[in-house]
Amino acid sequence: MLITWWYLYLAARSFAEQTLRMASVLQKLITPLFTGTPEPPRNKVTVVGVGQVGMACAVSILLRELADELALVDVVEDKLKGEMMDLQHGSLFLKTPKIVADKDYSVTANSRIVVVTAGVRQQEGESRLNLVQRNVNIFKHIIPQIVRYSPDCIIIVVSNPVDVLTYVTWKLSGLPKHRVIGSGTNLDSARFRFLMADKLGIHSSSFNGWILGEHGDTSVPVWSGTNVAGVNLQTLNPNIGTDFDEENWKETHKMVVDSAYEVIKLKGYTNWAIGLSVADLTESLMRNMNRIHPVSTMVQGMYGISDEVYLSLPCVLNSGGVASVVNMTLTDEEVAQLQASANTLWDIQRDLRDI
Ligand SMILES: NC(=O)c1ccc[n+]([C@@H]2O[C@H](COP(=O)([O-])OP(=O)(O)OC[C@H]3O[C@@H](n4cnc5c(N)ncnc54)[C@H](O)[C@@H]3O)[C@@H](O)[C@H]2O)c1
Repeated sequence: MLITWWYLYLAARSFAEQTLRMASVLQKLITPLFTGTPEPPRNKVTVVGVGQVGMACAVSILLRELADELALVDVVEDKLKGEMMDLQHGSLFLKTPKIVADKDYSVTANSRIVVVTAGVRQQEGESRLNLVQRNVNIFKHIIPQIVRYSPDCIIIVVSNPVDVLTYVTWKLSGLPKHRVIGSGTNLDSARFRFLMADKLGIHSSSFNGWILGEHGDTSVPVWSGTNVAGVNLQTLNPNIGTDFDEENWKETHKMVVDSAYEVIKLKGYTNWAIGLSVADLTESLMRNMNRIHPVSTMVQGMYGISDEVYLSLPCVLNSGGVASVVNMTLTDEEVAQLQASANTLWDIQRDLRDI
C-alpha cells in the first residue's frame, strides 16, 4: 500500500515538473487571481481624425493624464497605425496605459468623450456651403458609428465650420443637446485673453474676457464684461472696443479673427492652441469640475434667437456635459451681433441636405 502511494506521489511530481517546464514565462511569472472579463475603461477618450489637430488634441489629453484609454480613428490606415505606434513608444512617459487605433469604430467602444476633428479642407474657389455639405457627408458616416459603440458619450466637435457641424452632429447622433458640444469660441477667447493680457503685461488667466457667438469671422467680443481683478475696463474707457476709442482696443479682436489665417499662412495649419484648449474642455468634463467655458451649445430660445442653431455662450461643464448656460448681461449691440451670427448660421443650415 505504501509503495502504491509512493508511485502515485512520484507520478504526480513528475507531471507537475513537466507542466512547469512547458509553462510560458508569463505563466511562471504571474498567478492570476481573477480570470473573468476584464473591467471596461472608465475614462476612455476617442479622437476621430489623426491630422494635425487630432494629434495635438490627443497629445494634450495624454499629457494632462485625463484618460485611462485613448482610441484613435481615421480612414488613412498607414498614418493611423504610425501615429498609434509612435504614441505607444512613449508609454513609459505617460499615465494612459492603453492606446489603440483602428478604422473600425468598435475600437472606440465605451468612450466617455469623443473628440471629432475629421474633415476635409476648403478647395480653391469652393463655396462655404459646398464645403459644409462635403463635411456633412463625412459626418453621416462617423457620427452614427460613434453613438453605436458609445451611446452614453459626450461628443466634442472641432472640425470646421464648427458651429454648423456641431448642429449636424446633434441631429445625426440623436443625443440630448447637453451631450453634443462644439469647441466654438473657446480658442478665440484664449487668443483674446493672451493678446489683451500681453498688452497689459499680465498672465492670460488674469485677464477676464469672453468671445461669444460664431467661431471665426463673426465672433462677438464682450467688451462690456472685460475686467482685470474685478476692475471693468469699460468703466476706465467707456469707448473701449468701439470705433471712437482713441486707444483702438478693437484692433485686438481683429487680431483674434485674423490669427488663424496668419498662423495658417506661416505654418500651413493651426494645431497646438486648439489641442490645448480641447484638453482643457476634456478636463472639466472628465473631472466633473463645473468650470465655465465659452463653447458652442444649442441656443434656441436664448437672447431672442428662435432657430435651432449652435453658438458659443459661457457654459458650465461637468461630467454630464453642458449643465447650464450663464445669462450674461450683454449690451443691445452685443445681443444684435449674436442674433446676426445665428441668422448667418441658419441660412447655411436650412440648405443642408440629408441630416
Ligand atoms: N474649431 C477650431 O477652433 C479649429 C481649429 C483648428 C482647426 N480646426 C478644424 O479641424 C479640422 C481638422 O484640421 P487638421 O488641420 O487636423 O486637418 P488634416 O487634414 O490634417 O486632418 C484631417 C484628418 O481627418 C481625416 N479624415 C477625413 N475623413 C475622415 C473620415 N471619414 N473618418 C475619419 N477620419 C477622416 C483625414 O484622413 C485626416 O487625417 C478642420 O476642419 C479644421 O478646420 C478647428
